[in-house]
Amino acid sequence: MPAQHTRRAVLGASLAVAGTGVLAACAGRGDTPDHSAMDHGAPSGTAAPEGYVSPGGPEVAAAEKRRGAGPERKVALTATASRLDLGGGRTVSSWAYGDRLPGQEIRVTAGDTLALTLANHLPQATSLHWHGLALRNDMDGVPGLTQRAVEPGAGFAYRFAVPDPGTYWVHPHSGVQLDRGLYAPLIVEDPKEPLSYDKEWVVVLDDWLDGVDGSTPDAVLRELTGGSGHSGHAMPAPSSSGDGGPSRMLMGATSELLGGDAGDVGYPYYLVNGRTPQDPSAFTARPGDRIRLRIINAGGDTAFRIALGGHRMTVTHTDGFPVRHTATDALLLGMGERYDVLVTAGDGVFPLTALAEGKDATALALLRTGSGAAPGAAVRPKELDGELVTADRLVPDRSVALSGRTPDRTVRIRLTGSMAAYDWAFDGKPYTADQRHPVQAGERVRIEFRNTTAMWHPVHLHGHTFALAGSASGARKDTAIVLPRQTLTVDLDADNPGLWMLHCHNLYHAEAGMMTVLGYRR
Ligand code: C2O
Ligand code: CU
Repeated sequence: MPAQHTRRAVLGASLAVAGTGVLAACAGRGDTPDHSAMDHGAPSGTAAPEGYVSPGGPEVAAAEKRRGAGPERKVALTATASRLDLGGGRTVSSWAYGDRLPGQEIRVTAGDTLALTLANHLPQATSLHWHGLALRNDMDGVPGLTQRAVEPGAGFAYRFAVPDPGTYWVHPHSGVQLDRGLYAPLIVEDPKEPLSYDKEWVVVLDDWLDGVDGSTPDAVLRELTGGSGHSGHAMPAPSSSGDGGPSRMLMGATSELLGGDAGDVGYPYYLVNGRTPQDPSAFTARPGDRIRLRIINAGGDTAFRIALGGHRMTVTHTDGFPVRHTATDALLLGMGERYDVLVTAGDGVFPLTALAEGKDATALALLRTGSGAAPGAAVRPKELDGELVTADRLVPDRSVALSGRTPDRTVRIRLTGSMAAYDWAFDGKPYTADQRHPVQAGERVRIEFRNTTAMWHPVHLHGHTFALAGSASGARKDTAIVLPRQTLTVDLDADNPGLWMLHCHNLYHAEAGMMTVLGYRR
């Protein structure tokens, strides 16, 4: 039970990124989305199926109106080629939001109207997606489904009411761009924050290969879909992928926690807040401080098991939504998942270690509250092997528990494919933008994900926060791990009309075809 209900103001005014210089010069390029002129349907050549709510349609506008329009927060963001310093003498050429990794955090308050101008200085079309937000559908940032891609040199003015407080993040929804440096935390503060804490530490985890020895995410995708078979060894395959640097294909990486195969890609680096373990970022606090960690897995193909040496953690939220406070030593985050935890800082220097699950490598940051030598890069705190609370064991906070209700409809989705063929899909059919799993506004919808594959998948639904375990008693989430050969059942209220992506958040699985669309019928 949330025991701490003071309303201590923890942070200064909610601040947005505008004016920090990330972009300024290009803000004028953003064009206002023109709903009448925009092609909201399938990409050219494919006709959008009839009978569905359109992202620019009246149902979407009406839903937005119900959210109200609070104070406007202006943010400017530029997607651009950048040189990034990962620490320890390692710099890479990549793409990022500005010149930092992760991108400058976006911080707003629930109820605000966020007005973010994206300027595209990349050589490729892009878009911005707001992972986890139940926002208006035409601002969801999915090219070919909810908007036109933002062409190089162009811009896009996103504008929407921010619904729920919590820990979210932003990334493109174009190709494998997410596996470059294009991600940033999105923190939505609660105007009635029930937790009390002294400091807040945003922790972004990532697996990194872009710009290392010639690697790019596109070359990795080519290598994976090119289809060499399994070698059965937990090491990168010896063959080179040709133009895209050394092979990054990972064979036989296994994890008990993930029920088998852990991932398909071996990354040369694993990062916390953009730094390698050789030169980690350090968070400074005082002994006894209560610190709220907001942990985000922004990886492409890596689940992270995370623990803070010398500390227990109290889980307070997952995917932005509160849960009954639950103590644990370690947590497991699939790609796209978030956890908020509270810790009471000890005295000294402590490793926050994120183990790349099944990949035998770690990412590191430090908590520093006193003197002492920093632990070495390879430190593995014993808490990593202690108690680990998984999402299915969490109970939602009463304020966000779904009401008990019999589902009006069950959407059944089979997860299919294999690493050898690299034919990841739903129901054996690779994604096309005209796919629709119909639902009707007002329905209680159950989704059954039946994983027929030998691998785990972090499934993610846009625009909604479902309840786990197909009952009112499960934690609310937008991204959840489905273990191999298991079925995950989730329930949701269909209260946000539009066309919503439903996909595996393994970036390479998604690009291979493991995506589909939940569509509201008109
Ligand atoms: Cu992070 Cu389609 O989502
Ligand atoms: Cu997957």
